[in-house]
Amino acid sequence: MARSRNGLNIGVLTGGGDCPGLNAVIRAIVRKATDVNGDKVFGFYDAWDGVLEKRYIGLKTSDVRGILPRGGTILGTRRGSPFDTKDGVAKVKKTFSELELDALIVIGGNGSLTVAAELHDKHGLPIIGVPKTIDNDVVGTDATFGFQTAVQIATDAIDRLHTTAESHDRVIVVEVMGRDAGWIALQAGIAGGATAIVVPEVPFDIDELSQIVRKRHDRGRYASVVVVAEGAKPKPGTLVLPPRVNDAYGREKLGDIAYAIAPEISARTGFETRVVQLGHIQRGGTPTSYDRVLSTRFGLAVVDAVHDKKFGQMVVLKCGRIETSNLSTTANRTRTIDLQLFNDVATTFFG
Ligand code: F6P
Repeated sequence: MARSRNGLNIGVLTGGGDCPGLNAVIRAIVRKATDVNGDKVFGFYDAWDGVLEKRYIGLKTSDVRGILPRGGTILGTRRGSPFDTKDGVAKVKKTFSELELDALIVIGGNGSLTVAAELHDKHGLPIIGVPKTIDNDVVGTDATFGFQTAVQIATDAIDRLHTTAESHDRVIVVEVMGRDAGWIALQAGIAGGATAIVVPEVPFDIDELSQIVRKRHDRGRYASVVVVAEGAKPKPGTLVLPPRVNDAYGREKLGDIAYAIAPEISARTGFETRVVQLGHIQRGGTPTSYDRVLSTRFGLAVVDAVHDKKFGQMVVLKCGRIETSNLSTTANRTRTIDLQLFNDVATTFFG
């Protein structure tokens, strides 16, 4: 693709775990950039891999027709970064210069946005971020798109689990995503009327948790749904978890916490337990209308931010308005849950 005559040359990539709403952002970027501004949009395949290997598609309106409600990302995504290899940054710079890129839009979660901040701050690249993740744990924005969809999926699942738990007089421990922050567990647990909610921010005591379940059954209720975030941690010395291994990206492999909790509740209460892991179901499929609108607003705003040269920043939601915020204030940080919501609202309904 040659340089656009009047507009800018804008690259875009989607990085990290996928989430519902990515395609809606891509669509909004392409519509605004190409139809309104006369820019050219270079969609890089498979996150940073596409930038390093110069694999891209020149995105036009016809390429983004019909993708607004589609989950996943038409560009593909990966978890790697240019810092994984010695010459990664040099390759990124080469692609910038060969394609005469004026800016690169990075649509990503904490990992991708941290990489984006470093490439801008230390290597001077004109990068702007768009925060995404079902985990809702990006510092600087009131919400990320994908989160609301994940909460709805988890809530629907909890509703269904109540009826089967009641029929069998069982305790069902349902594990949701949330590695460092328990937003999905908290919101879906409140919405789904959970007996207890366990989040990474508040280490749990298995005796107290079992007591909550027992109390509910003593009050005449005969089934429980306990919602646990995958990153939940026991209070030191209260429960020994099997040793964890790392995945290919150096992160702890999660997915065992509900299986550790369920038999312990059973042993302490005598109630039959079952485990349900919602896993990637929470990330798949069509975004809710809320997430489609937020994604669309982010996509339009980030093109404006590119034209305003707001490099080193990302678009954010603040009190209902779309603004920009420095990537450096987001990098290497996690937005944890609102503890007041946990303590004042969620715990009121425990047991
Ligand atoms: O993108 C965030 C997230 O969904 C986390 O909640 C979860 O721990 C992780 O991704 C799972 O990653 P992967 O898809 O690589 O297994």
